[in-house]
Amino acid sequence: MEGICIRGTGSYLPPKLATNEDFMKIVDTSDEWIVSRTGIKQRHIACEPVWQMGVKAAKAALEDARIPASELDLVLSTSVTSDFSTPGASCMIAQHIEAVNAVCIDINAACTGFVYALDMARMYLTSGEYRNVLIVSPEKLSRITDYTDRSTCVLFGDGAGAAVISASEEKKRFASYLRTDATGTKVLFARHVDKGNPFQEKQKANEFDGFEEHDNEYLYMNGKEVYKFATRVLPLAVEEACKKCGVAVEELKYIIPHQANIRIVKTACERLGVPMDKMYLNVERFGNTSSASIPICVDEVNRRGLLQRGDLVAVVGFGAGLTYGAAVFEW
Ligand code: ACO
Repeated sequence: MEGICIRGTGSYLPPKLATNEDFMKIVDTSDEWIVSRTGIKQRHIACEPVWQMGVKAAKAALEDARIPASELDLVLSTSVTSDFSTPGASCMIAQHIEAVNAVCIDINAACTGFVYALDMARMYLTSGEYRNVLIVSPEKLSRITDYTDRSTCVLFGDGAGAAVISASEEKKRFASYLRTDATGTKVLFARHVDKGNPFQEKQKANEFDGFEEHDNEYLYMNGKEVYKFATRVLPLAVEEACKKCGVAVEELKYIIPHQANIRIVKTACERLGVPMDKMYLNVERFGNTSSASIPICVDEVNRRGLLQRGDLVAVVGFGAGLTYGAAVFEW
């Protein structure tokens, strides 16, 4: 087996919209503040479970790839806002698309999930054992967002992206660079709160290693630290992945970054020395959808016909963990 190809893509955005004006009714904020700090104007909000959004994106990707779900060997879900602790979202989605021959695995790499999954897919496919992998990234950030906290609630949206990755006889270029800076677990997290049991006293505060200050399950973010981290690792990961692939950053047709906020992307662009029009952005319309953000962009780029065979693309993610990484692939 020579390589891998992205055989089909899909996405799904729930119909309900929340605009910046809608947020002005629930917290003390303004359109000007949100747009100037983040570039976001609206985001979609789901009234349905994560797995249902995943099924819709997955079906669109399978249709685009023109293969039946029964030909999938592996379903990888990257959702961090899954409906169940167990079974995984991958199992729920496999059931409803009837991926009867697939192994199902959930990955928790936060906003870098799709990039991690792409590399896992490559390893399974080039081993020769599997032929088709579905990566599905459905997210419902509204589930873990505190809508009384103006500094985080305006950032996030819901949606799903998916891609079918297949083994290819053709040798297409691919390289990835993945890392985790696990010293940063406290910068960005959403914790489970222990519900207690009849045999145990309440867990002592110090056993939580500092996380106990946040005694709820909402997403906590140290915005300034995330900003510093993201603007450092985004250019670094793209450069390292390009180096491994043997291509120059200038040769990339598009860089598809995790859609967190536009200021992060602008700063990273300056550091990379590339023009902003190399960056594919839709954060204005969808906000930050965590691991769904990159595959939603890949699906847009595909459906808009923006790529020709042989074009080089980089995807780059950064998120809780702190995970980060980039992959360069040939279309
Ligand atoms: N509307 C109006 N004012 C607000 C809002 C809001 N929605 N949110 C915060 N403010 C206020 C703050 O309270 C603060 O007021 P104060 O000075 O009176 O205390 C003021 O705005 C400035 O706040 P800062 O935090 O200093 O604002 P900053 O310019 O740093 O921007 C931001 C904040 C946008 C969060 C920035 O730190 C950032 O971009 N961080 C990256 C975070 C991010 O994108 N995370 C994505 C999720 S993580 C991921 O996907 C990997």
